[in-house]
Amino acid sequence: MKRILIAVSALIGIVSFNGVFADDEKMHMGSHHHEMSVIDTRTSLAVSPEMKQHQLSNMREHVVAIKSIVGLMSENKFEEASKIAHAKLGLTPEMEAMCGMFNNEQFKTLGLAFHKSGDDLGNVLQTKDVNASLRALNKTMQYCVECHATYRQ
Ligand code: HEC
Repeated sequence: MKRILIAVSALIGIVSFNGVFADDEKMHMGSHHHEMSVIDTRTSLAVSPEMKQHQLSNMREHVVAIKSIVGLMSENKFEEASKIAHAKLGLTPEMEAMCGMFNNEQFKTLGLAFHKSGDDLGNVLQTKDVNASLRALNKTMQYCVECHATYRQ
């Protein structure tokens, strides 16, 4: 009887330990990310250590550009928003060179298409059409989403 009690309490212990662990994991992962696994299954670009920081700071500038464009649109400053789209998201020689540094053809193609969409956005913003501009912005941001879902450094 005593043995059975010990076995049962040990089992309960294991079960509740698992429960705690699962809660803990959920907290770390964010409970809305049910599909997220601990393993990163995205394709690695094998970015060199020197390139890593360069790429990330470039990326942070992309977020700033999107934020500026949205803010300027809300103030009806379409000309300025258009300039930022061309200069920061468009296919400038600098961005073309940056994309060309990666050893992955599909990534390059995606990167170039993204920057072309940045130029398209710049052109649409010049029309001062809010809905058309939002559609173009949505298209550009779809590339952010798609690339991040597929690749990692
Ligand atoms: C062609 C691919 C590609 C496109 C398009 C792209 N990114 Fe990225 N981005 C990356 C990669 C690769 C990383 C590194 C991710 C990793 O290793 O986890 C990254 C990282 C980032 C980071 C993290 C920066 C940091 O300091 O950690 C931000 C923010 C970001 N991107 C914003 C954007 C935004 C905003 C857009 C669209 C306007 C965008 N990116 C478009 C490939 C892309």
